[in-house]
Amino acid sequence: MSLSAPELLDRARAASAHAYAPYSRFRVGAALLFADGSLVTASNVENASYGLSLCAETAAVAKAMGDGRRGGLLAIAIHTPDAEEISPCGRCRQVLLELAGQDGSDPLVIGQGTGEPREWRLSQLLPDAFGPLP
Ligand code: THU
Repeated sequence: MSLSAPELLDRARAASAHAYAPYSRFRVGAALLFADGSLVTASNVENASYGLSLCAETAAVAKAMGDGRRGGLLAIAIHTPDAEEISPCGRCRQVLLELAGQDGSDPLVIGQGTGEPREWRLSQLLPDAFGPLP
């Protein structure tokens, strides 16, 4: 990994400063690290029609795939300053798999709130997953 886990978490922390979360007041930043060393970051973007809100991870995947990235996903870090710990919601796990599944990678997922960081493989967070079409 070209960036260490703490460095990637720092990028997620910086992204959380851009969170648009006036409804939940729960700010989240995500940083995606790719095999070519590139990074994509995003924050959660909420909406007055609550159900339309986007999580930071989903916003980051949309940004990356919209820029033409397919696979090559090494790691994802997420950070919130508003809770002790965090892990991706179920929808984001599936959205992350759509990107990772492009080349069958099993990226590292690192989550940190105000407490200690936790690490998983995406396959641990979404076992027996329904993946992208071949
Ligand atoms: N949220 C994320 O952005 N990522 C997560 O992993 C968990 C939840 C957002 C969605 C919503 O804007 C706010 O946090 C509260 O759920």
